[in-house]
Amino acid sequence: MILVTGGAGFIGANFVLDWLAQSQEPAVNLDKLTYAGNAENLASLAGDARHVFVHGDIGDTALVERLLAEHRPRAVVNFAAESHVDRSIHGPEDFIQTNVVGTLRLLEAVRHHWNALPAGEKAAFRFLHVSTDEVYGTLSSTAPAFTEQNKYEPNSPYSASKAASDHLVRAWHHTYGLPVLTTNCSNNYGPYHFPEKLIPLMIVNALAGKPLPVYGDGQQVRDWLYVKDHTSAIRRVLEAGTPGETYNVGGWNEKPNIEIVQTVCALLDELRPRADGRSYTTQITYVKDRPGHDRRYAIDARKIERELGWKPAETFDTGIRKTVQWYLAHPEWVARVQSGSYRDWVAKQYAAA
Ligand code: NAD
Ligand code: TYD
Repeated sequence: MILVTGGAGFIGANFVLDWLAQSQEPAVNLDKLTYAGNAENLASLAGDARHVFVHGDIGDTALVERLLAEHRPRAVVNFAAESHVDRSIHGPEDFIQTNVVGTLRLLEAVRHHWNALPAGEKAAFRFLHVSTDEVYGTLSSTAPAFTEQNKYEPNSPYSASKAASDHLVRAWHHTYGLPVLTTNCSNNYGPYHFPEKLIPLMIVNALAGKPLPVYGDGQQVRDWLYVKDHTSAIRRVLEAGTPGETYNVGGWNEKPNIEIVQTVCALLDELRPRADGRSYTTQITYVKDRPGHDRRYAIDARKIERELGWKPAETFDTGIRKTVQWYLAHPEWVARVQSGSYRDWVAKQYAAA
């Protein structure tokens, strides 16, 4: 079996759902259920013995040691993190605690476990660390996309904390020989995305008749990847990646934020037109820019394609349509996140147990 951390969050939940849809191999899912963790994302797995949910912290060494000893996973996939740049600007402390200290403790617990494994299991073991393209910093409009050789130049407390965790993972390979893999992925979008991030925020605000807040001039560029393409990349790296290597994962979809917002509006105009017949674009409002806002991210994903044969299955057009359709089909999920009642899910779900 595998141990997944942060598997109640956006990407982690998609990963666990996709993993169990494609294989019989069980997954233990360790998640602290911060504001971003939503056990309801995993509701379809209720009663499925292949999924073991554990409410806890990657920084809780005793708990992680117990899980490793009890379940003997062949791999750890580490999604657990504080992930929102704007939150990191308001309060960096949690980012250092989970992304840096938490990763350190997880690495140490895993190293001790791995060291004691019999030779065959030890050789097959993998620690896959899920990271971001934001560690590479910002690009000018003409600079080539980030390759795995780019220098780390993080600019936000979030990206600095992720860069630090990547360095720890790298060092645990070089110093202790831990068989690690690191993926650096671009911006994800898709189902279960917490509606304070750009794309889901625009969808839910548009439907609620609220302003669509675009930071600065809206010309910041991100590379967007449909979340299920990210989960397939992680499965592929876990299966065939070379320990010690890093793999950039991206969608070849560079777009300025304003274009993303206009695309979301156009899809909503088509699929759920406003009662007054006007376009949702009339709700777009330019607001004060984020401090230190990175201008452009772009991923060169040729290494993972060349070495592991991975390519995204979705284009931006197909992925964004699926995403808007998912939010339109799940108003109760959005309502429960907005009201905060999703946080009662674990208590309710397990009360009768
Ligand atoms: P998210 O914020 O939606 O989910 C994070 C999850 O981790 C939550 O379920 C949360 O409860 C859990 N968590 C937080 N602290 C924890 C701790 N100390 N112990 C255990 N669990 C903890 O984030 P996401 O968007 O799903 O991102 C997952 C990972 O992928 C992160 O490491 C992030 O840096 C990385 N990443 C995200 C993106 C993106 O576009 N969202 C892109 C590239 C990489
Ligand atoms: P976000 O989803 O926070 O991801 P990240 O900052 O990690 O790339 O934001 C994506 C882009 O959208 C980023 O350039 C900031 C911008 N943005 C807005 O313009 N308005 C918003 O309300 C939000 C949340 C983000």
